[in-house]
Amino acid sequence: MTTLDDLPIRDDLRGRTPYGAPQLDVAVRLNTNENSYPVPEPVVEAIGKAVAAELRDLNRYPDRDAVALRADLAGYLGHGLTVDHVWAANGSNEIQQQLLQAFGGPGRTALGFTPAYSMHPLLALGTGTGWIPGVRGADFGLTAADAVAQVRAHRPDVVFLCSPNNPTGTALDPSVVAAVLDEAPGMVVVDEAYAEFARPGTVSALAVLPDHPRLVVTRTMSKAFGFAGGRLGYLAADPAVVAAVQLVRLPYHLSALTQAAARAALAHRDALLGTVTAIMEQRDRIVAELRTRGHRVADSDANFVLFAVGGDQGAAWRTLLDAGVLVRDVGLPGWLRVTAGTPAEIDAFLSAMEKLP
Ligand SMILES: Cc1ncc(COP(=O)(O)O)c(C=O)c1O
Repeated sequence: MTTLDDLPIRDDLRGRTPYGAPQLDVAVRLNTNENSYPVPEPVVEAIGKAVAAELRDLNRYPDRDAVALRADLAGYLGHGLTVDHVWAANGSNEIQQQLLQAFGGPGRTALGFTPAYSMHPLLALGTGTGWIPGVRGADFGLTAADAVAQVRAHRPDVVFLCSPNNPTGTALDPSVVAAVLDEAPGMVVVDEAYAEFARPGTVSALAVLPDHPRLVVTRTMSKAFGFAGGRLGYLAADPAVVAAVQLVRLPYHLSALTQAAARAALAHRDALLGTVTAIMEQRDRIVAELRTRGHRVADSDANFVLFAVGGDQGAAWRTLLDAGVLVRDVGLPGWLRVTAGTPAEIDAFLSAMEKLP
């Protein structure tokens, strides 16, 4: 039998393992920052109708440029954005891959401030972009001065900022984004996958798009919209950036079914986003409760919380799993990440936490 090692695979992929959080059959799954609430029945019906209306025409390719969906997404984002400023793909992962295909690639580099979203370096690897693991402060913070010094030292073609940051949960101060935009010689991608969960007063990088043609803000319907299975991510940027990603996107990358389902979901955004407040309440409950119990906990503007377990996080992860609660070991010594789910799920998580030594 042929093994991977027998194949003439690229040297930089040899010995690698695929990305993947464990998809385990556990009662309480709080490890991938999904929205725990199922799609409400009226929205299920609306999506069903929208998808059904496409079925007869599946003999034809879909709208290659997903114009109607992009117009809807621009309307959702506001900030004076139009269809020309927005691009959509199968998840913000695909959006970021397309950005690296267009602006990274062999001989170019991308820099991110770790710990941050673990797919950023993997997307760099897959697109042949050199990865520069920038660093954050001891408390996972990132100051404008630190960020600028690293950008100045490395002069990357692409800078990834993640706000709110995964896995720490904290949003960036706008001064950090502004300073990086001033210093970066290339593109600056602000990954705002969790923007809808941010605490009041948090400023989106969308606000400064008009002044920065090299700024790209990526968003997703996987989190607040509860549409992870629908696979819909998008970006907002100067129209020239949209033209750039159109050079590398596969033709018809976004199926007619995906476009129809996402448009129906967006049309019912009030119902879908109706869970955000409840999720933020559970997020704040986790932070407050764990701090009361003496854990170090990172401030969270997202639908998850990073907390210290005071010892081996692998053993703590296993203890919680044995108690029926799946959380995420992101590989940070002494820390675990938990998604803010339903009140019942957080009850289960908090009581499982009592089993830790
Ligand atoms: C920071 C961040 N960006 C992007 C994504 C990818 O989301 P999707 O490809 O589902 O849009 C995730 C998913 O966990 C994330 O945490």
